[in-house]
Amino acid sequence: MLKLAVLVSGGGTNLQAIMDSIADGRIKGAQITAVISNNHHAYALKRAEKAGLFARCISPKDYKDREAFHEALLAALLESQADLIVLAGCLVVIPKAIVKVYENRIINIHPSLIPAFCGKDYYGLKVHEGVLARGVKVTGATVHFVDSGTDTGPILLQKAVEVRADDTPKSLQQRVMEEAEWLLLPKAIDLIASGAVTVTDGKVVITQPACVG
Ligand code: GRF
Repeated sequence: MLKLAVLVSGGGTNLQAIMDSIADGRIKGAQITAVISNNHHAYALKRAEKAGLFARCISPKDYKDREAFHEALLAALLESQADLIVLAGCLVVIPKAIVKVYENRIINIHPSLIPAFCGKDYYGLKVHEGVLARGVKVTGATVHFVDSGTDTGPILLQKAVEVRADDTPKSLQQRVMEEAEWLLLPKAIDLIASGAVTVTDGKVVITQPACVG
């Protein structure tokens, strides 16, 4: 059974998609052992508690400095005995020390088709604002392994979403979540849990059909 630690910062819709997919069998062979947020007010924590999951907040505000926060986060991850860490709407930059301990065992959902509209200044609505400002006709979402960079790790799954002429950043964000994120992240977890995913020379190899939605 693949143990998951899910890191969240906001509304938790991606967490909800994972929980629902475990419940209905779209994800087989995985269980959530911890939900951890950096934000005391994250609705994602309420979703976890409502589902009876172990949920806790580890906020940088509660530690004397960034290093102490990182140490507490690593301790919580080790305590969860997670095999895979899932960044689900997580806005924390994972420190190199944690990436090293969990090499190729941290995945992230990013709301664009990497390498487009990603990196340090692209998160949340900013991604979709950039997409609309550039006038691209197709966007989407990406699940990738986390390395020491920002949105630079090996790509696992992607799904395209049409950009509509009347889109606003909010309407586009919602459609990317509905049509891509909430399908890709559960599928990625199910593939990893089934042993169908390896990373070789910085590229992801999937040995099972990976079609989504
Ligand atoms: C979503 O746009 C997701 O792509 C990004 O954070 C936003 C909120 O995600 N990573 P969630 O509802 O907290 O899962």
